Amino acid sequence: MRLEQKVAIITGGAKGIGEAAVRRFSDEGAKVVIADMDDAAGEALVSSLTDAGKDAIYVQTNVASSESVANLVEKTVEAFGTVDILVNNAGITSDAMLTKMTAEQFEKVLSVNLTGVFNCTQAVVPLFIEKGYGKIINTSSVSGVYGNVGQTNYAATKAAVVGMTKTWAKELGRKGINVNAVAPGFTKTDLVAKMPANIIEKMTAVVSQQRLAEPVEIANAYLFLASDEAGYINGHVLHVDGGIMM
Ligand code: CAA
Ligand code: NAI
Repeated sequence: MRLEQKVAIITGGAKGIGEAAVRRFSDEGAKVVIADMDDAAGEALVSSLTDAGKDAIYVQTNVASSESVANLVEKTVEAFGTVDILVNNAGITSDAMLTKMTAEQFEKVLSVNLTGVFNCTQAVVPLFIEKGYGKIINTSSVSGVYGNVGQTNYAATKAAVVGMTKTWAKELGRKGINVNAVAPGFTKTDLVAKMPANIIEKMTAVVSQQRLAEPVEIANAYLFLASDEAGYINGHVLHVDGGIMM
């Protein structure tokens, strides 16, 4: 029980890597808050957890909206009294070559992957400061670290997440708050399922392990950084990418 009685908000928690994280955190004793826009998936996941005797709620949330995020924090405190862990996992893609990318595509990805991370962290941090404890895990990507064809918008946000992680680690470390990031490689979720098959093959070929990640392999890294085992780790970017580049 590495997260016993801890209250964890996981954005984008209804599906993919977020869902795997919700299940892992719950298995380790956390009270989980699924912050997502997919009501059907979110409610179904809550039912499966509460049926098993776990504490979980779903709060319909658009991380791009500060009003929606304020409601998320309010509902979390109403249900569980506090927040201990924030996993900024929600993210979207809208891929196109630079020459074809529209301003709308660029802005849409920024609003979720960049402004969304800012909104959620800013809303939760006052609670963390007050209690002198908190864990923030941000989700970057191999695309943000190394760049990726067709992902000007997405790579920009995922690189920005690294900058925000290090800045917040410096601002908040002395307040008992750890801020770290995970940079996953290509992982078996809907995001990757949307990619052209020949490009998935190309990407898999450059991974030392010659396979995509399972969502739970990324969730395990979130779990480690959210636990007190990682108490002296701050401002770190943990690469969970099967050795895509070394
Ligand atoms: N790596 C290497 N080459 C790539 C590539 C990639 N990731 N993506 C595209 N290319 C190549 C294509 O093979 C093609 O090469 P040729 O001209 O030699 O045939 C060239 O770039 C142009 O590609 P398209 O003909 O497909 O151009 P398009 O305008 O029709 O489509 C695209 C462009 C929308 C970017 C499309 O290629 C695509 O979807 N690519 C995949 C982008 C990608 O990797 N997205 C990752 C999604 S998963 C994710 O984001 C999670 C994460 O964090 C990693
Ligand atoms: P996914 O598409 O499977 O799941 C994303 C979840 O986020 C969905 O439940 C969706 O409803 C939710 N979501 C989307 N927009 C939202 C918003 N505005 N507010 C709240 N929730 C929203 O994606 P996946 O693959 O699980 O990705 C999770 C995170 O991991 C993302 O930040 C992604 O960029 C990152 N990542 C994913 C990789 C992959 O290969 N799958 C690789 C590297 C990083």
